[in-house]
Amino acid sequence: MTETLNFDVTTVTESRIHQFDPNNITFGSLFTDHMLVADYIDGQWQTPKILPFGDISYNPALASLHYGQAIFEGMKAFKNDDDEVLMFRPQDNWQRFNISAERMCMAQVPEEIFIGGLEELLRLDAAWVPKGEDNSLYLRPFMISSDVYLGVRPSQNYRFMIIMSPAGQYYSTPPKVKVETEFIRAAPGGVGYAKCAGNYASSLYPAKLAQEQGYTQLLWTDAIEHKYFEESGTMNVMFVIDGKLVTPAVSSTILKGVTRDSLIKLAQSMGIEVEERRVSVEEVISGISNGTVTEVFGAGTAVVVSPFAAIGYEGEDYVLPAITEQSLSSKLKKALNDVRTGKVEDTFGWVWKVNA
Ligand code: COI
Repeated sequence: MTETLNFDVTTVTESRIHQFDPNNITFGSLFTDHMLVADYIDGQWQTPKILPFGDISYNPALASLHYGQAIFEGMKAFKNDDDEVLMFRPQDNWQRFNISAERMCMAQVPEEIFIGGLEELLRLDAAWVPKGEDNSLYLRPFMISSDVYLGVRPSQNYRFMIIMSPAGQYYSTPPKVKVETEFIRAAPGGVGYAKCAGNYASSLYPAKLAQEQGYTQLLWTDAIEHKYFEESGTMNVMFVIDGKLVTPAVSSTILKGVTRDSLIKLAQSMGIEVEERRVSVEEVISGISNGTVTEVFGAGTAVVVSPFAAIGYEGEDYVLPAITEQSLSSKLKKALNDVRTGKVEDTFGWVWKVNA
């Protein structure tokens, strides 16, 4: 439980839960009954409002629409066997959100609004938290600048919101990813470590070009030499090399993923050696060919653990071995899901139970 705050709550007169089919979920397309809206005006957070989910109106001169002060988080909630609602590592996401806010010159969001707001919403919309393998309720806290002003300066007013959407498996088949050696996601000194909207906007064009060539997503390389892996699509990337879990060390160009960190800690607890370091394209491409690289996978809140089928590099596809239950990525995914859904004891202090 976090410090309590009064929320101004208006509930729906009729739930839309009948629209929700847990066996047929398309990511990010259906939203729960309620949302949270908190405004930061004249240096003060106003009483957060919980409202029926719906459209909001905005002034065409809203600063965020023009200059992109917009950040977000991706989180998930689950139900345990007793139907209690569990959030996964919400404090880590709250802290990262405020790191993003600082980089984008935005207001800091207090814990009682960020985590308290999530708890309040989850209590109201608990019925929307699905059970079942790969299912969860995806939580999307976000913040935009809300000055009505076209001068370029940090906004003085902000709007923080939370919306929630049932989620199933993100990719239906293992992605085929292309090593990107022309476009970049992030450069040193830029905003790569911040979860800001612009990072996703600028990734769309190179991803579209790769999709036209038959790939699902990109494997981003460093901005300077295009020699070292950074991330993949909207997720961190991990490799199994000689039986060790290897992943690019976080830096100013790489998002400090909560799933990434959880998988590292779970692997270590299983006695698997973990290396956080630079991983070169050459090491991975030759490793696939000589059998030392056995798995490559994306790690993120939305995708969880997403093993890649093949890696495209310089016009050639390097096919990865098929994933089995014995693969490290399968074991890590299971271990993560077991903790998140309360199936095993949480020895890490990651699970946050939402009191009914
Ligand atoms: C997440 O994993 O939460 C992400 O940020 C990916 C999202 C952009 C779909």
